Amino acid sequence: MIGVTSPWLWYGTRATAVVGLVLLTASAILGIFTNARLGWKLWPRWATQEVHRRSSILALVFITIHIATTVFDSYVPVHLAAAVVPGASPYQRWSVALGTVAFDLLLTVLISSLLRSRIKIEWWRALHYLTYLAAPVAVLHVLLLGTDAKKGSHWLLAVLGVCVAAATGAFCLRVLRTLKLRGLRTAPPQRLPGRPRTRSR
Ligand code: HEM
Repeated sequence: MIGVTSPWLWYGTRATAVVGLVLLTASAILGIFTNARLGWKLWPRWATQEVHRRSSILALVFITIHIATTVFDSYVPVHLAAAVVPGASPYQRWSVALGTVAFDLLLTVLISSLLRSRIKIEWWRALHYLTYLAAPVAVLHVLLLGTDAKKGSHWLLAVLGVCVAAATGAFCLRVLRTLKLRGLRTAPPQRLPGRPRTRSR
């Protein structure tokens, strides 16, 4: 809390939050596509990977502005520490803490990606999976704390619904693809049609 208040800061908090959430969803879906090695003729794999990277960074920029406008606006007592320390906010302690946990998880993913060439690939992958935890935690934060969500604004619930449905759909496709690939790998090799192996006399 710094000591300035204006409805514009509050609008800024809400607008950047929603844009950040949509970008985060897009980035998560593209990440799943990258991991599944999906690519098409007109949209190659490297393009998916590149847009995934850039949308993640942009999402974090918007979420950081969302947090900064919250902290800057003295209308609600949310201190800077609440950005990274869960439970540090005297205002709506646990609903804000959910946002903090989601932000900490995303920061961990970002930092591990920046250090990717210096850490083991297994570590990087395990840390990257934290995104799957950050997403539902962020959704709970939005539902419990967002003015628009609490007053049941149809547009926000629609945006949230589309984000959750799209991310869940991509995740399920990914799981199905992995199971299918595993099934193919463990299936016994099929005998090719053609000449029989033993000669008949
Ligand atoms: C990944 C991290 C986060 C995401 C994706 C996120 C996203 C959102 C969204 C979408 C809303 C609803 C806005 C609306 O109803 O129009 C919201 C509300 C809010 N968030 Fe976050 N947030 C995150 C982290 C944080 C953190 C760390 C803080 C505090 C330091 C915070 C403080 C708030 C506050 C105070 C509100 C209520 C704003 C209002 O009056 O409607 N958020 N957040």
